[in-house]
Amino acid sequence: MNDVSLSVIDLFKRYPGADEGVNAVDGVSFDVEEGQFYTLLGPSGCGKTTTLRCVAGLERTDSGTIVLGGRPVNQVTPKIFVRPEERDIGMVFQSYAIWPHMTVFENVAFPLRGFARSRKHLRRTEINERVTKALETVQLGAFAERPAPKLSGGQQQRLALARALALEPKLLLLDEPLSNLDASLRELMRTELRRLQRQVGVTTLYVTHDQQEALSMSNRVAVMENGKIVQAARPREIYRRPITKFVASFVGRTNLMDVTIIGKGQGDHLRLDTPAGVVEAICPADIRDNDEALLSVRPENIQLHAARPPEGTPNVYPGMVEYVLFLGESCEYQVRVGHQQLICRVNPDIVFRRRDDVFVELPTEHCVVVSDEHGTTPETRQDEEDDDDEFETFGVDPLSAPLESV
Ligand SMILES: Nc1ncnc2c1ncn2[C@@H]1O[C@H](COP(=O)(O)OP(=O)(O)O)[C@@H](O)[C@H]1O
Ligand SMILES: [Mg+2]
Repeated sequence: MNDVSLSVIDLFKRYPGADEGVNAVDGVSFDVEEGQFYTLLGPSGCGKTTTLRCVAGLERTDSGTIVLGGRPVNQVTPKIFVRPEERDIGMVFQSYAIWPHMTVFENVAFPLRGFARSRKHLRRTEINERVTKALETVQLGAFAERPAPKLSGGQQQRLALARALALEPKLLLLDEPLSNLDASLRELMRTELRRLQRQVGVTTLYVTHDQQEALSMSNRVAVMENGKIVQAARPREIYRRPITKFVASFVGRTNLMDVTIIGKGQGDHLRLDTPAGVVEAICPADIRDNDEALLSVRPENIQLHAARPPEGTPNVYPGMVEYVLFLGESCEYQVRVGHQQLICRVNPDIVFRRRDDVFVELPTEHCVVVSDEHGTTPETRQDEEDDDDEFETFGVDPLSAPLESV
């Protein structure tokens, strides 16, 4: 295992406010290994920015320990609070404020001069070298003398990054740095940012509400809900083996079915009673005794057949097509199976029409039992139940009907 570069242990941060205030960060713990790209992913208001600001030292925590490169920078007893400028971090925020009255070069050099005054003395030649290197890294070397406002949106974003990198920080903190860019540039910058991070090798804590950004860029993703981390794992695992209903529906789209666990199936599979029939499924978390379990099956993992698959194929059910949407790269079907509606996304070469009889196959390895538990605190439970629907339909194309759930 690599060295741990950042440890956040049992972090709490409460903002005072009407009634009881807000538990913005409610017992968050995670480790980021050296060189890792670690992402906090969650909907707006779940506490991502507050967590990042605590790590940066821009917020005082209520409790919790933060260790950066082996050195505690935030601790309650004995009290330790290291000021932001002494934490060896670089930051880029959503509003990546470049200084409009300065050139590109000066934008990167300026914090180094301030930095030189506060702690280490950087000689002018060293500042020049660092700025040149940072600008070359983000491919803005040719623009050094240009006034900063004369850069395009993507270039300004790279400039903000160069400014953070020139500090040669131990840790880079990025808070939704791509969200001000238009869609195509955002996708381009996603690849670019990840390439740069690898090249420089700087440990990175990234914050986003965009699941595709999180899945495509990160070594590890921690999904946050109501100030808590509900699951932290590699992107593929988050997507393929979500442990709660919230993770399953926030990260990608899914079909959710009510289940009753009826017993053990083959190997460590579970047998479930569902509105579609009896299903064999896997259960990544220890929720076997939980009444509030649900079955999650992603639309692209469901298979549709015109004829009944061979005897012995598990989880096959007769169904009827209710609607068809041609989406170019794929075709989306809503199929009724027993008392359940399922959204299926298949290869567009497979053609069925409305009211066609089909056989629906739910491959066991894609049938995942998830819990209905939330990362919630008692005082916010009521609000959060009201918010459920919002999470449920996140990321659903406006064209398609909402997914059937509970
Ligand atoms: N300065 C503040 N004062 C009061 N409440 C705040 C403040 N900053 C954030 N909050 C609240 O804390 C919660 C978490 O906010 P934030 O960390 O900004 O979430 P995210 O970055 O995930 O959108 C939200 O309910 C938000 O309204
Ligand atoms: Mg935020």
